[in-house]
Amino acid sequence: EKGGYEYFMLKEIAEQPEALANTLLGHLENGRIVLDEQRLSDQDLRDVDKVFVVACGTAYNAGMIAKYAIEHWTRLPVEVELASEFRYRDPVLDRSTLVVAISQSGETADTLEAVRHAKDQKARVLAICNTNGAQIPRESDAVLYTHAGPEIGVASTKCFLAQIAAAYMVGLALAQAVGTKYPDEVVREFRALEEIPAAVEKVLEQMEPVRDLARQYAGSNTVLFLGRHVGYPVALEGALKLKELAYIHAEGFAAGELKHGPIALIEDGLPVIVVMPSPEGRAVLHSKMISNVREIQARGARTIMIAEPGDEASAAIADHFIPIPHTPTLLQPLVSTVPLQVFAATVAQERGYDVDKPRNLAKSVTVE
Ligand code: BG6
Repeated sequence: EKGGYEYFMLKEIAEQPEALANTLLGHLENGRIVLDEQRLSDQDLRDVDKVFVVACGTAYNAGMIAKYAIEHWTRLPVEVELASEFRYRDPVLDRSTLVVAISQSGETADTLEAVRHAKDQKARVLAICNTNGAQIPRESDAVLYTHAGPEIGVASTKCFLAQIAAAYMVGLALAQAVGTKYPDEVVREFRALEEIPAAVEKVLEQMEPVRDLARQYAGSNTVLFLGRHVGYPVALEGALKLKELAYIHAEGFAAGELKHGPIALIEDGLPVIVVMPSPEGRAVLHSKMISNVREIQARGARTIMIAEPGDEASAAIADHFIPIPHTPTLLQPLVSTVPLQVFAATVAQERGYDVDKPRNLAKSVTVE
């Protein structure tokens, strides 16, 4: 059942190209994005003037990433909120609000209660879920299923990538409904998503150096993660994985925030994993990251840089360089997250921990 892998998580990391491809499959019909269960009219979607994403844990990080794409494509404001905070702070909701609930299990109590609160306030609810017929999709007005297959490892991997792809499709479906994208642009964005499974396959072929690095740094007490733009939530996810699996104090930061506090944490030899934006994307993002890396290196940080092979500026300064294939900026999280998953799993293995069942955690948390 583990298919020759030592842990389910390793198998699930390897299954990510398939999880992504299956999630995208069949959602472009006659040049239009289609959802799975749509108990909402096209007019309901056209009327949406604000989006909330609610979720917990890794699903929340997927929502943070999707915010960049949904806002960019739809020009609708998107707020991403931890489900456990959302319903207790009286969020402003009405029938033109779309609440997107992301949940692998579809049974997480905090997310379910957030959905119920949204419905009480007349908001429309769309669920992104990996479990057919679970409670959250049952109570939602529309559903987009991720087809990652069962995920056994408590720490989510393939579902995370599938959730990002699904949330991006929601963004495209909204863009086509509200009219911010021409049909051919929607198709082009969808085709770009379809190229990602092959890119993830490439990343997976190059994981041995990442495992070596993980073994080298397995004794660290603290590891920091830095990113900007969509790389920021990737940094959060990398840190979450390392905490959950290896019980190492790990924090993700927006690189621009460094000088407003976190840089005080940098000391000699501290490992910092940096998610570099493509040098072919927005030049300013890339050059700002390079100066952030210089700032932390000047204070003794050891940098592990995840960057495109053609990124010479990064290669020139990195203490360790992890190459990832070129992708459009918004799609990079789908490839840059993979080495972070492998890093965390390998550190946990090296420390002798149960990768599939980290202490104190449950796969699905059905109490608030
Ligand atoms: C946590 C799991 O308890 O719940 C995480 O350990 C997961 O891996 C989170 O991301 C949310 O779960 P779900 O099923 O709502 O996506």
